[in-house]
Amino acid sequence: MRTCLLLFVLVFTTRAQSTREVRNPHTSPADVAAGAKIFRGHCAECHGLTGEGGRGPNLTTGVFYHGSSDADLLRNITDGIPGTTMPSVFFSEDQVWQIVAYVRTLSERRNQTTTGDATKGARIYANLRCGGCHLVRGEGGTGGPDLTLIGSQRSLEHLREAILDPNAKVAREFRIAHAVHENNAEHRGFVMNEDTHYLQLLEAGKGLTTLPKRDLRKQTIEYKSVMPSYRGKIAGDDLNHLVAYLASLRRSTEGASK
Ligand code: HEC
Ligand code: HEC
Repeated sequence: MRTCLLLFVLVFTTRAQSTREVRNPHTSPADVAAGAKIFRGHCAECHGLTGEGGRGPNLTTGVFYHGSSDADLLRNITDGIPGTTMPSVFFSEDQVWQIVAYVRTLSERRNQTTTGDATKGARIYANLRCGGCHLVRGEGGTGGPDLTLIGSQRSLEHLREAILDPNAKVAREFRIAHAVHENNAEHRGFVMNEDTHYLQLLEAGKGLTTLPKRDLRKQTIEYKSVMPSYRGKIAGDDLNHLVAYLASLRRSTEGASK
């Protein structure tokens, strides 16, 4: 009983603290510049050089799933997000405030509006059979990445490029490898894992295969996407609609304001 009470008090006080208005004390141009420098060195590998997203979500929309207040950003950047690859950091609180100041500028700088109509875009998505390879909320195929949250993970430019020029940035886990075993067996599939000794492939219809590299006669990894380019196959306005539809695919709390 006493532990229950203690827990309640703890939860209650942390909540009260996080909702209290805290303002970033470090927002001068010099702070932003210092934050930018840290961002490039420690955050860009996952969030992209201009915060456009990559292994981590897009930070340019101004809406943050884990909280958008200054205090939320301070906490999420300091402690990381448990259970995900978002790490905690060892910077001083002043430095984290500088990072927060820089992260704020990412959404100011970018004009994240689209002239497209998401409802029309949803129809185009269906007509072009994008769902043959992509999942949206559990529906569709698994030949490409799940697009359920793509709107909060990627910038508009990235989405446009993904449709027109899929080979430009093939996501790591969608690279295709072709390997020939000593016994002449051929393997072709998505590269799930690779180190000095092993190559692990996800082969269509066969599942996961782990191949010791010393047994391979030949091994090539293609940086080409299996996604076809839609350049020239989709007219200007339709592309805007399709991008608007993809941008609308977000976690429900983020979509609430729309
Ligand atoms: C190893 C990859 C990685 C690095 C490095 C990284 N992040 Fe993240 N970050 C993530 C991932 C993944 C998430 C999303 C976690 C989730 O919600 O599933 C995330 C989430 C966030 C969020 C919350 C986004 C939201 O919508 O609430 C912020 C803010 C953030 N990161 C900022 C930073 C900053 C600033 C740095 C550098 C100090 C950084 N990250 C470094 C991977 C990374
Ligand atoms: C033949 C299967 C296939 C079809 C059809 C297909 N895609 Fe893809 N798509 C993929 C694969 C595989 C990737 C991951 C490799 C890459 O990044 O190019 C991908 C990547 C993407 C990405 C980038 C995801 C990210 O995380 O950056 C977007 C956006 C996308 N597809 C949208 C679409 C849309 C919209 C359509 C329909 C017009 C479509 N795809 C049709 C297979 C497909």
